[in-house]
Amino acid sequence: MDHLLADACADASPKAVNSHDPEAHVARLREMVDAELRRLPIPAEPAALYDPVRYVLAGGGKRLRPLLLLLATEAAGGSAHAAMPAALATEVFHNFTLVHDDIMDNASERRGRPTVHVVWNDSTAILAGDLMMGLAYDLLAQTSTGDLKALVQVFYSMVARVCEGQALDEAFETRTDVTVEDYLDMISRKTGALLVATMELGGMIASAPAPLLNALIRAGYELGRAFQIQDDLLDLTADDPSWGKVIGGDLIEGKKTFLLLRSLESAQGENRDWLERIVRDGGLAADHVPEARARMEALGVVDEARRAVRHHSAAGVEALRTLPPTPARESMLWLAMRLSSRAS
Ligand code: IPE
Ligand code: IPE
Ligand code: MG
Ligand code: MG
Ligand code: MG
Repeated sequence: MDHLLADACADASPKAVNSHDPEAHVARLREMVDAELRRLPIPAEPAALYDPVRYVLAGGGKRLRPLLLLLATEAAGGSAHAAMPAALATEVFHNFTLVHDDIMDNASERRGRPTVHVVWNDSTAILAGDLMMGLAYDLLAQTSTGDLKALVQVFYSMVARVCEGQALDEAFETRTDVTVEDYLDMISRKTGALLVATMELGGMIASAPAPLLNALIRAGYELGRAFQIQDDLLDLTADDPSWGKVIGGDLIEGKKTFLLLRSLESAQGENRDWLERIVRDGGLAADHVPEARARMEALGVVDEARRAVRHHSAAGVEALRTLPPTPARESMLWLAMRLSSRAS
């Protein structure tokens, strides 16, 4: 692993900027993250606790958060090696949120496999999640560069924002007065806060000066919004099998997504009655998901969500462009573009 890190760091030197291959750079960092996750010392016993933890961490995923953290560190002149423990902390924390989120959302599939609470049960999933939350702090504490106390403070403040976002997400299910503005605030917490912290921690580990740190934070904030609106959009429209989650899951669960809120605002007459019934009934029957999609497409709301993703991605990209021109910045820009145009 150490030699992989050394290679990646060498390739990230400023002189390589002209011949820089962002895709190869990101792939290399991803390999390192996956290798480190595989090396985590997860005990064998008790299997009822550690098997689900292993199941989740081996389940794949885009590894977006650790990649952004490593790239943020490199973009601020630091080394991926120094940032790796914090990068792993963000991925393990993210995986914890997914396990508990799947209980909260009654979700049966994730990353193309049955969710932890389905394979095992709710109690097991809660406990596996608890373990991962603690493990995330343990990993963060292994950071040996920078001010550890400040890193922990940023991490905890992120944890609080994510939990607030999840609380609002749940509360919105039964509220009938949720606005798009409320929704944007909620997603900035449940999803944006982790992307912001990822960028901030990466910058802090490299002792980034304030303007650079602020640009990273702004990029994380905008990319977080783009990412969650895209997730809402794909929840209904993903046709790539690698999506790995139940299509229409948000509608089935009665989530106040960007699509549902904008549809309720724009629809008239019978269309509006039909959509309001989803809210009144606390969700939609799975066999009506294709009809909901057709109605939302006809209302122009699906295109509107695509435009919102483009808008926030562009704002994130603009913030990234203010960073010094390094290979890591180019790789972050490449990753941001990839995310906003992804199909799964
Ligand atoms: C899913 O995150 C949860 C959201 C914040 C939308 P990802 O889409 O990054 O999930 P994985 O890690 O790639 O599976
Ligand atoms: C994700 O929101 C937010 C967190 C996991 C904290 P979603 O509920 O939309 O995520 P998915 O779609 O289940 O991945
Ligand atoms: Mg969910
Ligand atoms: Mg959720
Ligand atoms: Mg979702």
